[in-house]
Amino acid sequence: MHQPIVEVPGAHWSGRPTESKLTQALESGGVLYFPSMAFTMSPAEQGLLRPDMRDPKARNISQPPKGPLKGALGSPEELALLDAMMRRYRQQAVQLVQDMFPRYSAYLRMEPTSFRPTEVASRKQSWRADDKRMHVDAFPSRPNRGERILRVFSNVNPQDPRMWRVGEPFEDMVQKFWPQLPPYRAWKARLLRSMRVTKSLRSEYDHMMLQLHDKMKRDTAYQKNAPQTVMAFAPGSTWVCFSDQTLHAVDRGQFMMEQTFFIPPQHQYDPAQSPLGILSRLAGRTLEGARQ
Ligand code: SIN
Ligand code: FE
Repeated sequence: MHQPIVEVPGAHWSGRPTESKLTQALESGGVLYFPSMAFTMSPAEQGLLRPDMRDPKARNISQPPKGPLKGALGSPEELALLDAMMRRYRQQAVQLVQDMFPRYSAYLRMEPTSFRPTEVASRKQSWRADDKRMHVDAFPSRPNRGERILRVFSNVNPQDPRMWRVGEPFEDMVQKFWPQLPPYRAWKARLLRSMRVTKSLRSEYDHMMLQLHDKMKRDTAYQKNAPQTVMAFAPGSTWVCFSDQTLHAVDRGQFMMEQTFFIPPQHQYDPAQSPLGILSRLAGRTLEGARQ
């Protein structure tokens, strides 16, 4: 049975055992929720909990695995403090994932760490960029050919929860939109790459994921009526999901840390449960397809 949210006790980030029940919950699209596992911040770091730490021109404050912090404004001391805090978050997130899911360890590709100090509820965005609408994550300019998007989130707001809605199982959603998916056109993918709209060639898988992302976000009836579970992530809590598979929407909240990892789907415990596995099964062929 699909369980959208599975609670995991304990406050510690390191030394957690691997548990097949939790791996299975994660790989079937569930959210692992650690209500007591806080990302601890010093009093000086708590002074960074201000929306004006974000450069208004940037969507988020992000720290690539290599290279300088992006999107942050502040004094040199504040920026150094933020940089070190984000690095610490990355280390804790890596430790958590490596301990709980040792099979991923050798294949984890480190993506940026982000700090999101902006209140979600009042943020105005185009429908496509609006994460208040139910969606799965898919990147328009960065094709990933089925690589998994694993995310660790921590609510660092001292008093308010981060409010999410978690949707139905990925496959149930795909069944609804499948008849509306336009066919993949290799020439269009080549054109998008030559115009540098995409950084590499968009595969049939990428095409389907983006179509699902857009169709879901645009469909107001789906947004309103599709099965969904309201989830309040408490202050001082952490949660983990495959955000390319778990249907999610955020309604409100301010101050969150987040770490993204990419993982090749063949190195999951059960690759058949990945979006690539599910979409390939429904299409009746493997969708890794288009090569460079
Ligand atoms: C997302 O939709 O990936 C963002 C979720 C959040 O900001 O809480
Ligand atoms: Fe998202």
